[in-house]
Amino acid sequence: MGLNSCHNFQDFRALAKKRLPAPIFHYIDGAADDELTYRRNTEAYADVDLVPNVLAGVENVDMSVEVMGQKLDMPIYCAPTALQRLFHHEGERAVARAATKYGTMFGVSSLATVTVEEIEKLAPGPKMFQFYFHKDRGLNDALMERARAANFNVMALTVDTITGGNRERDLRTGFTSPPKLTPSSVFSFATHPMWAWNFYTKEKFDMPHLSGHVSAGTNLAVSVGNYFSTMLDQSMNWKDAEELCAKWDGQFALKGVMSVEDAKRAVDIGCTGIMVSNHGGRQLDGSRSPFDQLAEIVDAVGDKIDVICEGGIQRGTHVLKALSVGAKACSGGRLYLYALAAAGQAGVERALGNLRTEIERDMKLMGITSLDQLSRDNIRFNTPRF
Ligand code: LAC
Repeated sequence: MGLNSCHNFQDFRALAKKRLPAPIFHYIDGAADDELTYRRNTEAYADVDLVPNVLAGVENVDMSVEVMGQKLDMPIYCAPTALQRLFHHEGERAVARAATKYGTMFGVSSLATVTVEEIEKLAPGPKMFQFYFHKDRGLNDALMERARAANFNVMALTVDTITGGNRERDLRTGFTSPPKLTPSSVFSFATHPMWAWNFYTKEKFDMPHLSGHVSAGTNLAVSVGNYFSTMLDQSMNWKDAEELCAKWDGQFALKGVMSVEDAKRAVDIGCTGIMVSNHGGRQLDGSRSPFDQLAEIVDAVGDKIDVICEGGIQRGTHVLKALSVGAKACSGGRLYLYALAAAGQAGVERALGNLRTEIERDMKLMGITSLDQLSRDNIRFNTPRF
């Protein structure tokens, strides 16, 4: 099976599984505890049915949206994810170029493997920086200043990683960053020679935004859970978030808000967006899915702040369902990460292209020509909720 046979999320996942050494595949694919939340994130969309209209004259459809001041050519963007160089040697460059080609936003993590300065040169379009609040205040200041100087449009403070999630697949495989050579990982690398060749002969793995500040993750192999638990500041609170928001003084989002109460506080401290997200089920297992939680958050703050539904999205219809409830846009990580692992930039382009084609087809089948025509009239929850 090759890239041309990848027609959907599951096809990319299967190809990524073939191409990646097991510890790396399971780092992307895995989630916390029993992975209930991870599964529910996608299953939630099946509990809602679409109710289409017909005879609407749909030869031209416009799927653009505006979110946090950014005009996107499609209503879904690439959520920031860490360590992309591990998945493919093109790393963040591949995602930046593919997202730019499709006119959508992408995020770059504090734990990225390519610098924001290089990304700026490759990607003139809308960019989000994902900020992790470290104990090291010098590092925090440097991250924000670099993102500002590199003209990132949106700053997203991650608020759901105050401690590491219990990712048991990583514990079993011994996944660390950078990858550690253990008897089982060596076996896995040797049986994926193409990945191993690219990893060990192409540019050296690095997390350039952290170098000079912390050695964990680049010079010192650690698990991601361990990094969160030891490097990030667990005293982070609303006052810190408010100060960061004021310091950035631009489009500012909290990534990982789940409760109505927190959504309201995000508005109070001056945020312009929130990502309703449980970090892809990788942190608190048993946390509600973003789609299940979306309606109450939109009802509370949807007229004051841009609400983004993140996680579990695999299909164009999932995006239309989230937008019908009131999300301004959707975002996802695994939906492009498997594709990145499968085939680098070409893979990410194909994943975004597939989604674009699906959304266009689904809009026509729903009888709409622009996304603002979607509303809760277009959906029914199998168990009524409103
Ligand atoms: C993760 C972080 C790094 O979920 O976002 O692994």
